[in-house]
Amino acid sequence: MDLKDKIVICSGKIRPIAIEYLQDKVTLKSWQQRGRVPEEQWNEWLKEADALYSTGNIRIDEKLLQKAPKLQVAAQSSVGYDNIDVEACHARGVKIGNTPGVLVNAVADIAYGLLIDTARGIVRGHLHTKNGLWGERKAMGLGVDLYNKTLGVVGFGNIGSAIAKRAQASGMRIIYHNRRRRLNDAASGARYVSWEELLKNSDFIVVAVTLNPSTKGLFNEAAFAAMKDGVRFVNISRGKVVDTDALYEALKSGKVAAAGLDVTEPEPLPGDHPLLTLPNITVTPHMASATEETRDEMALVTAQNIIAALSGQPMLAQVK
Ligand code: DGY
Repeated sequence: MDLKDKIVICSGKIRPIAIEYLQDKVTLKSWQQRGRVPEEQWNEWLKEADALYSTGNIRIDEKLLQKAPKLQVAAQSSVGYDNIDVEACHARGVKIGNTPGVLVNAVADIAYGLLIDTARGIVRGHLHTKNGLWGERKAMGLGVDLYNKTLGVVGFGNIGSAIAKRAQASGMRIIYHNRRRRLNDAASGARYVSWEELLKNSDFIVVAVTLNPSTKGLFNEAAFAAMKDGVRFVNISRGKVVDTDALYEALKSGKVAAAGLDVTEPEPLPGDHPLLTLPNITVTPHMASATEETRDEMALVTAQNIIAALSGQPMLAQVK
């Protein structure tokens, strides 16, 4: 189908693989320079856009939709879509695409890496060495084993279950909590437990939930208080799922022995944020899906979602 008259605009720099896929099929307007598309230019693009390729750097809400009267589809290159007002889009008949599936392994790897880091202090050890303190290694204290420990996974979708598989390789027992018990939990060796049981019995907790009204602020003061003393905590989902002040206090008091975060609230986390003054935390800059292969796959799925939606075909992944 010739879609050449259809205008696809991009909210940020997109991968060459997506450009190659799109440029012969549609009229592509992409900003391949650093930073955001200049406001005036962006507003012009919105006026004529049939499709929006979102790199996740903008809010897609009623305000934006009003400026984009022709928009049929907003395809985002991420699994999370908490920056998109789904209701507002659907009310205007704008389809939403995302990229679940292709980033599962990359995200699970980072979660597993952070999990090991909370047990062993790898980043802390590096900083210790870098600061010329190799000979004073004892000052760092000892880590703990993953082996024979209980990992509580909160949110047991594809990513949660991929994390569980990795943790099993380290000899961990896996329990999980999810809105609904998963049919595949036996295959992944994980046991479904209540929220309370998970908090009480986990030596390690990994958060892999989506951000929605029911998970916003889920890890608050009460949740941290209900955890085991010395629990280790990893978040790779969204920063807003955790009350940052409550986590700070829990890390400071030692209630949480160590934390590894790929996502934070606020995000980006300023370099002088109090969390970063603590010795028992590792923070990475929301980079869980950031591998060459995964970002290419995400870009391709996003581009394919756009073409499918503009052609009236089912999208590879559509947010309903
Ligand atoms: C996603 O796709 O939602 C991830 O957070 C990106 O790293």
